Amino acid sequence: MPEQNKMEKIVSLCKRRGFIFPDSEIYGGLANAWDYGPYGVELKNNIAAAWWKRFVRTRDDMVGLDSAIITNPKVWEASGHVANFNDPLVDCLKCKARHRGDKLLEEKIGVAEAAKIPFEQVGRKLAELKITCPSCGAASWTEARKFNLLFETNIGVVADAKNKAYLRGETAQGIFINFKNIVDTMRKKLPFGVAQIGKAFRNEITPGNFIYRTREFEQMEIEYFIEPPKQDEWKKPFEEWQAEIKKFFKDDLGIGEEHLRWRRHEDDERSFYSKDTYDVEYDFPSFGWGELMGFAYRTDYDLKQHIKYSGADLSFTGDDGKKFVPHVIEPSFGLTRTLLSVLCEAYREEDVKGEIRIVLKFRKNIAPVKIAVFPLLKNKPELVKKAREIYDRLKLACACEFDDNGNIGKRYRRQDEIGTPYCVTVDFDSLDKGDVTVRDRDTMEQERVEIDKLEGYFAEKFK
Ligand code: GLY
Repeated sequence: MPEQNKMEKIVSLCKRRGFIFPDSEIYGGLANAWDYGPYGVELKNNIAAAWWKRFVRTRDDMVGLDSAIITNPKVWEASGHVANFNDPLVDCLKCKARHRGDKLLEEKIGVAEAAKIPFEQVGRKLAELKITCPSCGAASWTEARKFNLLFETNIGVVADAKNKAYLRGETAQGIFINFKNIVDTMRKKLPFGVAQIGKAFRNEITPGNFIYRTREFEQMEIEYFIEPPKQDEWKKPFEEWQAEIKKFFKDDLGIGEEHLRWRRHEDDERSFYSKDTYDVEYDFPSFGWGELMGFAYRTDYDLKQHIKYSGADLSFTGDDGKKFVPHVIEPSFGLTRTLLSVLCEAYREEDVKGEIRIVLKFRKNIAPVKIAVFPLLKNKPELVKKAREIYDRLKLACACEFDDNGNIGKRYRRQDEIGTPYCVTVDFDSLDKGDVTVRDRDTMEQERVEIDKLEGYFAEKFK
């Protein structure tokens, strides 16, 4: 299947089957804004829950947090986002279309080479390399101007500079500004980390590629605080995190290692706060390698900035009574991007006896619906009653769906397309013999299972 085609098919499936809808569709939509439908929100929650389980609930050295989206604006001055969180914007001199100069350069000469070009030379370099405007094909550009990515808003009724605020540009800052609260309440020793899942906002100039780059998106971030390292000591926890991250993508989400790569940032490419950064990238159909997460050694930059701007004491007192400012390792995942990679990974078209079967082969534990229960026939009340009884029992343990629409073939097709791992069918034998058919999404094989043993059978399958 051509890769471009595959992405279009995924977008279409997401709409057709209730995963992701274009936002504000009844008003003509809003470019690059998407709403998560009933299956999309289940899938997103399941990915977030797998992340939380691996990185927070099962670890003694991690705690969670849920901080405000709109904070005191000084947070963003201290963090450096007001001054440094900029994209280089260039205008085409012919058609006046506005583009991100760095992205145009990256397409032509690659990310690493593009990163070496200083901000003020971006426009000149575009002209020198004869890079043409995607809108009109001309190759003459203005110099680059800085465009800040923070979304501005106003608190209260009067809109002026005094009550200007920002929607958070990353969830990370919520963690840094709560560092003292967490140290004071949680009795943690270093190293320990704080995790947060939530929305972040960036006024991107060139969003796109479905839910890959949107102005409103969700992050899953960890700030892992360590003692100030002597020389390269930070590399040890950095490598330990790397191993856990690999397990998350492979074991929890079922993403094939061949579709992932770790790309180290060039010196000029790193964010203003980072000493070493990797991106974990996924090989997306249609647009190729794209970042799923950033993994950075942020040093003590952020805590020191907040100490400077707030005057608060954000140091940590070690066992020997000495105070110091911890350093930070930051695994920062894009939740909505990861969801797109999970969809791409799961999407299959299979030839089944001359017919194409579309199936989402999610890792079973993250599938939005785990089990669908059907009565063989809709107009047989005794079958419907038994199927409902089974559904009512199974739904206590996991996400289930009852379906009596259309014939069995259609119901299987629908469940395959939303990635439901198991379908249970209640037929006349079920009434006589007390067993049902369980059909496996991946093998399409069916087996008879006693009704009384279903809970145990599925507990084993979703272990
Ligand atoms: N906290 C890192 C990022 O948002 O990219």
